[in-house]
Amino acid sequence: MGRAFLYVILGGGVAAGYAALEFTKRGLSPGELCIISEEPVAPYERPALSKGFLLPESPARLPAFHTCVGANEERLTPKWYKEHVLGTRVKSADVRRRTLLTATGETISYKILIIATGARALKLEEFGVNGSEAENVCYLRDLADANSLVNVMQSCAGGNAVVIGGGYIGMECAASLVINKINVTMVFPEEHCMARLFTPKMASYYEDYYQSKGVKFIKGTVLSSFEFDSSGKVTAVNLRDGSRLPADMVVVGIGIRPNTSLFEGQLTLEKGGIKVNGKLQTSNNSVYAVGDVAAFPVKLFGETRRLEHVDLARKSAKHAVTAILEPEKTGEFDYLPFFYSRVFALSWQFYGDNVGEAVHFGDYSGSTFGAYWISKGHLVGSFLEGGTKEEYEAIAHATRLKPAIEDLAELERQGLNFALTV
Ligand code: FDA
Ligand code: NAD
Repeated sequence: MGRAFLYVILGGGVAAGYAALEFTKRGLSPGELCIISEEPVAPYERPALSKGFLLPESPARLPAFHTCVGANEERLTPKWYKEHVLGTRVKSADVRRRTLLTATGETISYKILIIATGARALKLEEFGVNGSEAENVCYLRDLADANSLVNVMQSCAGGNAVVIGGGYIGMECAASLVINKINVTMVFPEEHCMARLFTPKMASYYEDYYQSKGVKFIKGTVLSSFEFDSSGKVTAVNLRDGSRLPADMVVVGIGIRPNTSLFEGQLTLEKGGIKVNGKLQTSNNSVYAVGDVAAFPVKLFGETRRLEHVDLARKSAKHAVTAILEPEKTGEFDYLPFFYSRVFALSWQFYGDNVGEAVHFGDYSGSTFGAYWISKGHLVGSFLEGGTKEEYEAIAHATRLKPAIEDLAELERQGLNFALTV
């Protein structure tokens, strides 16, 4: 049993949704495109799962956040997709023969393949702790996870949650749990939250804010085991520092691994992802990779990176489709890394790279503040909390310019004004 398509998108997440939109915008004949997704629903904006989806009042539910609402593009409801295979896992790929084999036994062949398989959440078992299968231990990667997190949250209002991990999932879920009237303790191994991005000074602002909402922090340790009741539910979390936290539920956000396994040994990998060039093309000409799974050249930094953020998923998908359909007219992908988060009444944006020396500016006891990162005499990264649309555009613009910075004290004095006037 088999079918052949001109274009196949493997994966049904954010990048897949944006690639599909771009294909149809540029004109596609019926039957040319197929999307193969393990998820039983059409592509949706994954960031909603840790934000609007978890709200106690008027929570976001599909179809409201199908792609591509996040970039104010057309929203693609399931009806929109003319050719797609949903709820089907691809279990093997043969890049030489240009075929994919699905779990239902179908062979799908392609002329051009876009890999948009994203990533999977790391499990506690990979760090030697058992218990992920307990019904009140929650991960958050897809809609099924989000539904079960909501059910668990609803069953323990007023109870205690332990959040494992101080990254994006940990911070956003902790805020949502508090909004759902659950007592939260966050546990993570680093000295401060969001260690991949925040400086200690920035982290201290967010930790103080969370503490004012009742969140407790236990830093510099990891969990060593769970305690269970007779039905297999977790009742307490034991930490390596010897402490024991009673728990009605646990949320785990300890990082991800890109879904590359189908292509290992067939395509070149780098930085844990599938290596692509400036056209998002892998080491095989007929295969492209986009989103979380792609390791791509960041022109601005002169090196290959893998980024795990939605803006990259959207823009890399669009660029890959353009490169496929109009190769002569398409230049190299020139991407300015962009991350953001919204929790409680807080909202920040970051552009560029957080390397070198950080120069903080603004009012760290108020609601608008930020930082620039200076590396090799140039501004390479900018962060702003509580900015206006114009101010965010200004820090993005300034970061893209990579201006030379001679006097760090002067930059600190100018603060946000530097970005607004550069
Ligand atoms: P994505 O994970 O979206 O999609 C991958 C798809 O491939 C899935 O549908 C999966 O089922 C499918 N798949 C994988 N293997 C398959 C196989 N073998 N066969 C068939 N299908 C397969 N970023 C940000 O910038 N701001 C934010 O606020 C947030 N918030 C946020 C919240 C939560 C809860 C998560 C989990 C993530 C975020 N992110 C984010 C990150 C952002 O969502 C992420 O970078 C993008 O979803 C990446 O898009 P991709 O399409 O690459 O992967
Ligand atoms: P992360 O990489 O942001 O954070 C992982 C955290 O796990 C680390 O900060 C660390 O505190 C913790 N950790 C690592 N090893 C541990 C261990 N052995 N025990 C306990 N804690 C440990 O990853 P995440 O928070 O799981 O997020 C998953 C993915 O979702 C990422 O790709 C992220 O970019 C994405 N996401 C992004 C946003 C956003 O951009 N606003 C929001 C939610 C999720």
